[in-house]
Parts: sequence; structure tokens; C-alpha cells
Amino acid sequence: MAVRYTVPGVSTKDAEQLIKTLQKRLSAYNDLHLTLKHVHWNVIGPYFIAVHEMIDPQVDLVRGYADAVAERIATMGGSPSGTPGAIERDRTWKDYSIGRDTVLAHLGALDLVYNGVVEDNRKAIAAAGEIDPITEDMLIGQTAELEKFQWFVRAHLEDLGGNLASTDSSTEKGAAEATRTDA
Ligand SMILES: [Fe+2]
Repeated sequence: MAVRYTVPGVSTKDAEQLIKTLQKRLSAYNDLHLTLKHVHWNVIGPYFIAVHEMIDPQVDLVRGYADAVAERIATMGGSPSGTPGAIERDRTWKDYSIGRDTVLAHLGALDLVYNGVVEDNRKAIAAAGEIDPITEDMLIGQTAELEKFQWFVRAHLEDLGGNLASTDSSTEKGAAEATRTDA
């Protein structure tokens, strides 16, 4: 959709480009808060209640970020797509692959999920920095909180030598399996 107007001081051409970047972040956040609820429902074993309850405030936070990003798209003259189909269309990763499993298995997989979201956020921050410091500022604040939550996740996976059980894995299933032997 062509942008007819945008925020003062930004060209409509630049706004169109930034809106495309923001749409990908919107779908990433929508995917993430759904995935976090899936983990909330599927963790089992020791530390169940701690992690079950640790996840809900993060769901609320990420849902709020989806709302903020969608409203920034609208403010910039674009049309945010918030449907399940948009998530499927925009994402460059596969559906979360762990079902009912231990707390550590899920946290190992979530560490990888957060790697993906945060890396893409940092690229979006760099792209926004070229065009619009207001959007850049929004994404920086969100990313700081996502990184903080990833620390919560990693604190469960770290051994006394400072190694993360999930570090050497490139797949969620691999990271989940690594927590069974290393942690
Ligand atoms: Fe619940």
C-alpha cells in the first residue's frame, strides 16, 4: 500500500521502507507472544511453577510491543497486518518445534528463539536509525527488555563454569536435547 502521508520531516518513500521493516517486527512479536504462551502451557517437571509464572508477564510485555509497533506503522501512514496469515507470510523461521517437555528443554529452545528476535531487532534498529530516531528509540527500548528476559532464560541454562547448555545448538530440538546432558 502506498503511503499518502507520514510523520513530519520523513519522506513518504523513507516511511514506506521503514513500515516494511516494522511489519516484520510486528509479525515477529505476534509470533513470539503466542509461542511464549505455548511454552507456558507445555512446561513440565522441576521449576514448573517458577517458569510457568515467569512467562506470563513477558507475554503481556511482547503483546504491548506488538501494539506499539502496529500503532507506529499506522502513525507513519501505513496499514499494520496483524492476522495469523501475516505472521506466516512475514516470518523467516519455522514454527516453534517443542511440545510438552521439561522446563530446561523449553528454555534451551527459547534461548534460540530470542537470539533470532533480538538479532533481527538490532538490524531493524540500524535501519530505523537511518530514517527515524523516534522509531529507533522505540525499538531500542523494546530490545533492552527482550535481552533482559533472555538473561532470565539463560540463567537457568548456565553451569558453574559459565557455559550455556544451548550455546552450540543451531536448532530448537538440538538446544532442548543439550539441556538433558549438560545442565
Ligand atoms: Fe495461564
